[in-house]
Amino acid sequence: MRNKKNLQVKSIFNKISCNYDFLNNLLSFGLHNSWKSKLVELLNPKNGENWADLCCGTGDLSFLIYKKVMPNGSVTGIDNAKEILNVAKIRSHSISNKYIHWEKQDVLNIDEKFRDYDGICMSYGLRNLEDVEEGIKKVFNLLTDRGRAGFLDFNHPKLNSLPDIFQKLYLRFIVIPISTIFKLRKEYSYIEKSIKNFPEGRELIAIAEKIGFRKVLYRTIFLNQMGILILEK
Ligand SMILES: C[S@@+](CC[C@H](N)C(=O)[O-])C[C@H]1O[C@@H](n2cnc3c(N)ncnc32)[C@H](O)[C@@H]1O
Repeated sequence: MRNKKNLQVKSIFNKISCNYDFLNNLLSFGLHNSWKSKLVELLNPKNGENWADLCCGTGDLSFLIYKKVMPNGSVTGIDNAKEILNVAKIRSHSISNKYIHWEKQDVLNIDEKFRDYDGICMSYGLRNLEDVEEGIKKVFNLLTDRGRAGFLDFNHPKLNSLPDIFQKLYLRFIVIPISTIFKLRKEYSYIEKSIKNFPEGRELIAIAEKIGFRKVLYRTIFLNQMGILILEK
């Protein structure tokens, strides 16, 4: 069952890889860039640090982090869908591979030996993992002793609250019709289901505290539609 979700998610992102950036910009009215910048601002990566961008997709966060950690640090972008990672590689052609490395790998299978990241970020990835708790635990194990991590994803609002109604209207009446034009209706229909199965903010806080993070902060942005989870070890 768990493996089934993994295969389904991988096939979705391989299929939408060519349209992914275009549709992201269109469907979020370009706002996803400012939400990602907000995450990076809160994480405050510094020159000389080594970071990982898990579920990196086409690499948006990797590019933002790389600008902060160079010239002495590096970013490793990790994703398990070959096609979407290829888009990231093409986008990074002009950047020295001293600073950005790309790795095709399942996040939950990353070997923890010899990895010690100062920081880890993930945008719109945690919700897609087979097991959210296992994902946060993996991040904990991949960080240095005082490492920090940040996650950006859809917020899972309280059922029938205004943000919940707004989110459903947005997904059903904007996302679905537009993705249908691109023959990607089935792939984008997956978002609503994945949010339903994703823990709410307070549940994410409880999971992170149980795993052992010393500092845990969850905040919502954009009318409670998106959530940012910041963790310190
Ligand atoms: C919604 S996209 C987000 C991409 C990018 N971080 C962004 O914000 O634009 C989710 C990404 O997670 C990747 N992904 C999902 N499950 C994964 C897993 N188990 N291991 C590695 N990558 C995974 C998908 O291939 C996809 O590129």
